[in-house]
Amino acid sequence: MPSLAQLPIGIFDSGVGGLTVARAVMQRLPHERILYFGDTARVPYGVKSPDTIRHFARQITAYLLEQRVKLLIVACNTMAAVAVEEIQKMSPVPVLNVLAAGARYAAHCTRTGHIGVIGTLATINSHAYDHALHALTPTLDIHSQACPLFVPLVEEGWLDHPVTRLVAQEYLQSLLAKRIDTLILGCTHYPLLKPLLEHVIGDDVTLVDSAATVADQAAELLATHKRLRSADAHPEHRYCVTDVPQRFQEVGGRFLGRPLHNVELVAL
Ligand code: DGL
Repeated sequence: MPSLAQLPIGIFDSGVGGLTVARAVMQRLPHERILYFGDTARVPYGVKSPDTIRHFARQITAYLLEQRVKLLIVACNTMAAVAVEEIQKMSPVPVLNVLAAGARYAAHCTRTGHIGVIGTLATINSHAYDHALHALTPTLDIHSQACPLFVPLVEEGWLDHPVTRLVAQEYLQSLLAKRIDTLILGCTHYPLLKPLLEHVIGDDVTLVDSAATVADQAAELLATHKRLRSADAHPEHRYCVTDVPQRFQEVGGRFLGRPLHNVELVAL
């Protein structure tokens, strides 16, 4: 049986979006093995009810724990917003999530205390970012906006398209009127829109992408628990999806920033 240090890091999302987190983890921890799970049969989660999302999150957690992982990273803001406590309760291994990481980084970045949050409908309706931010700094002024059209636009590859620009202007105008100085990209897909969003929102607003922060947290946690693989270890990555592995492979390359292999179709 492999030692704990040799086990992969389990990273999961509703689909391809969490690959932005996998990419940051691969950069920060190049010797670690990654087992990525994308629930491509049931994506998007962002328009579903909290009960349904929790049910899906429990199934994925059980699957990854059965495969044996040394750390779980909830790379989906929607699951982190409504299901993180259930996931933590089920897991004997540490659990990190993008929402907590993003909130922490944003609270650290803001100078004026006016923070904007964008995400899926489920994430915004849960108010999970408001709770996480207020737990860190109760005086923060938080303004949220659901941006449901961004996910299909990103999956379509319309990262710098006039339609996407128009949609972004429409979504962000109310946040801009609130004079925010920090904007949390509270959805796995939004980091791919960074250049376009920067253009729409201007230089004075810091965009918070939690992928790098969560990767730093993973590195720190594994070092503390002495569960890092050695610097000469060869990383292998596996990708498990619940439908259309071919499309995951094609679209996923954009999120991961390199071609991906070893995509397996699995059933939950
Ligand atoms: N992964 C989801 C998130 O980060 C976006 C896609 C979906 O709606 O499932 O919120």
